[in-house]
Amino acid sequence: MKVLMINGSRREKGCTYTALSVVAKALNEENIDTEIIYIGKDAVNGKIDEAVKNAAQKMKESDALIVGSPVYYAGPTGEVIAFLDRLFSVAESDLRLKPAACITSARRAGTTATLDDLGKYFAFAEMPVVSSRYWNMVHGSSPADVELDEEGKQIMTVLGKNMAWILRCIEAGKKAGIEKPGAVKKTYTNFIR
Ligand SMILES: Cc1cc2nc3c(=O)[nH]c(=O)nc-3n(C[C@H](O)[C@H](O)[C@H](O)COP(=O)(O)O)c2cc1C
Repeated sequence: MKVLMINGSRREKGCTYTALSVVAKALNEENIDTEIIYIGKDAVNGKIDEAVKNAAQKMKESDALIVGSPVYYAGPTGEVIAFLDRLFSVAESDLRLKPAACITSARRAGTTATLDDLGKYFAFAEMPVVSSRYWNMVHGSSPADVELDEEGKQIMTVLGKNMAWILRCIEAGKKAGIEKPGAVKKTYTNFIR
């Protein structure tokens, strides 16, 4: 089993990466593989199609998704929003019904607003949302700060363990003959007709 993680920060090995690494460690301890992909500036420098195609391919082979973003101006980064807008448009069938979670990192504020934005994507692909013992956030301006955030690190560890448990439950259910519900033909209406 594998969990794909998206680091939506412009910094490849910053605070978001550090937090995602704590989640990854907890998952690896449960014998679940992880991969952290760094989208960097690809979502806004003309390489979004290539970056999304790459992630969509990886998502096909993954059992769950975790999205991480630092707080930029009290919300997720523009890069991660551009990336998710496209990913959820083109890869819905590979995302559908796979457990998901989002995490964030901030120096001080804007964390819950960021989680609100990120968490909404999952509903479009029927993804069960996995939670932890508090909102999924760490605080700091540098990876060293995050290392000192004992509560934040515990939240990330519990998230990893909870994700592993849900994945095992789904696997056990499958073995017991519990299949995923089939996708419906979507009905779309607007407010005009
Ligand atoms: C453009 C920009 C905007 C930011 N806005 C906020 C903010 O609104 N609130 C906050 O607490 N931190 C803000 N920060 C700080 C980052 O969220 C914080 O340092 C985060 O942990 C960085 O994660 P990273 O190393 O993964 O990029 C901002 C940083 C940048 C570069």
